[in-house]
Amino acid sequence: MERLDKLLSRDGKLSRRDAQKLIRSGAVQVDGTVIKRPEHKLDPDQSKITVNGIEHNLSEHVYLMMNKPAGVVSATEDKLSRTVIDLVPEHLRRRGLAPAGRLDKDSVGLLLLTDDGDFAHRVISPRSKVIKRYFVRLDGDIDDSDIKSFEDGLALSDGFLCMPAKLYKTGDKCAEVEICEGKFHQVKRMFKARGLTVTYLKRLSIGGLRLDETLAEGESRELSKNEKDVIFIGI
Ligand code: URA
Repeated sequence: MERLDKLLSRDGKLSRRDAQKLIRSGAVQVDGTVIKRPEHKLDPDQSKITVNGIEHNLSEHVYLMMNKPAGVVSATEDKLSRTVIDLVPEHLRRRGLAPAGRLDKDSVGLLLLTDDGDFAHRVISPRSKVIKRYFVRLDGDIDDSDIKSFEDGLALSDGFLCMPAKLYKTGDKCAEVEICEGKFHQVKRMFKARGLTVTYLKRLSIGGLRLDETLAEGESRELSKNEKDVIFIGI
């Protein structure tokens, strides 16, 4: 059981003091009843809170998927460019919201955002072995020796030894690759090590979670409980 004022200010949009004022003004209802006592206790998993008739999201954290467009940076702030946070609709923003794993500025596709640091760490850490799948267009065709090199674990130009990765030819100068690491420009550098240049890169999935292709580029939405779980399926 938690205090009403604490729950109302949990997403960082209201201070505790402002939440108390709002409650005392009679604007807040718990399960349809106006509650004017900030210290009123309730179970956030069982009750519904509305503020001026609008439902207030009580979940502790927010988990979003975005279809990232090209031209925005995967960061919370940037001096020169728009960030993915700028694209998140106001009602889904939270204090501490940040991308869980980056995509380059010119890359597109599935990006997770959350204010849950532990969850983000689990998604990103190579130790968790969450497989990320990317579609790439290249300036040439891959062959069996490229597939074998990826499988064996290739060395990048700075000597970093990649974990074994799966590479599939999916068409003319097109491929899909699966990795569970996320070094800076990793996919592009892996292909560079084989003499190929990535001209387009799209992340398709993270663990068992596929990009919702009904999201237009730049759009984001909350993950369902099941979508959150399938990220870690089989791990
Ligand atoms: N690897 C890259 O090179 N770029 C990305 O955006 C993601 C993975």
